[in-house]
Amino acid sequence: MHEFKYRDNILYCEDVRVADIAKKVGTPFYLYSYQTIVDHFRKLKDAFREIDPLICFSMKSNANLAVCKALLNEGAGLDIVSGGELYRAIKAGADPKKIVYASVGKKKEEIREAIRRGIFMFNVESVAELALINRIAGNMSKKIDVAIRVNPDVKPKTHKHITTGTKETKFGIALSVVENIFDNSNRYRHLNLIGLHIHIGSQITEAAPYIKAIKKVISFIKDARIDVKSLNIGGGLGIIYSKEKPQTAKEFANAILPLFKGSGLRIILEPGRFIIGNSGILVTSVLYVKKTQSKKFVIVDAGMNDLIRPSFYEAYHEIAPVTRRPGAAMDNIDVVGPICESGDFLAKDRRFQEVRPGDILAVMSAGAYGFSMASNYNARPRPCEVMVINGRFYIIRRRERYEDLIRGESIPKALK
Ligand code: LLP
Repeated sequence: MHEFKYRDNILYCEDVRVADIAKKVGTPFYLYSYQTIVDHFRKLKDAFREIDPLICFSMKSNANLAVCKALLNEGAGLDIVSGGELYRAIKAGADPKKIVYASVGKKKEEIREAIRRGIFMFNVESVAELALINRIAGNMSKKIDVAIRVNPDVKPKTHKHITTGTKETKFGIALSVVENIFDNSNRYRHLNLIGLHIHIGSQITEAAPYIKAIKKVISFIKDARIDVKSLNIGGGLGIIYSKEKPQTAKEFANAILPLFKGSGLRIILEPGRFIIGNSGILVTSVLYVKKTQSKKFVIVDAGMNDLIRPSFYEAYHEIAPVTRRPGAAMDNIDVVGPICESGDFLAKDRRFQEVRPGDILAVMSAGAYGFSMASNYNARPRPCEVMVINGRFYIIRRRERYEDLIRGESIPKALK
């Protein structure tokens, strides 16, 4: 379900016309539907209600303060991966007691700050990191809670760049080593080893690989007689970009809940894309239509710096006209950005109504890993972000200006 729908061939975000917003804020811009964000969160929360889940929204998918706040208001926790995300989480008003912190490369200062803030737990990704957190906690005279991120060596069906739970990846710790950690838990006097964590990948459309990984971990807990209180099953729930048929929240929960029965384990989830992916679009204007011998290129004012997923993962995003023209002639088009790279495309070989300069297009399903992966490549100011809430739209991040591009830079005297 999402709230980007046509009425009389005009695209709306909830009750607001996308074209009206474009007129006010210019293009390109990211546009989010508050109602959709909340709806997705509630669906997941309801599906797991009987075991009182802690749902930590994965900030890497979209760290905008307003997006986070919308979810915090619903009772969400946050999944962070850096000191920067911790900073944002606090600025958004998060309760540190609901923040979980994963990352294979946490720095000392980041660990210290997270302890100082009193986060819920670290998801620890190596023995060396465990030792470091133990030392820092000791120096701060604290005893803190950690979960060990397990690498369950399970292969989800997804793009290789977003597979994270197989033994070839840098993530998590093999079960044999985890057992050793628990056997030697007295080495970690300043830590409570209270949980295990898995995250096997992203854009996973079926429950099977989760079931496999969770079963593996739960039988490990039993066999090794490990005393843990929580199992974090990560994020990764897939969404519809094109013709995918992902499990619903309910189907997913129905598959997972039986595995937790009688285990006494608290479940933690870290969804990003499931909540925000289809809650956002990227709105862009057509600058030129360029016909070459082999192709028709629609050149738009958003590029790979704004949305890198098509170039980076060959990801499919539907392109939708902000105004449909029924009966218009149809074309085969590539939608490309202004950036000086042949990899700068948003869509290839699409059948689309005839496009004219000035037309406004929506790149659908762009809420997750859209703005959060945007860059200033080609010295392009990043777009603004807008959220529709109850029939009104709000700029939740202003468009960057040229001054923002050089913020923090200086020319040393030696060059003057
Ligand atoms: N938890 C951990 C430890 C993660 O590494 C991730 C994502 C998540 C949760 C959230 O996963 P989600 O529910 O959003 O699938 N940039 C890529 C996706 C990278 C995902 C990285 N980790 C993309 O645009 O498809």
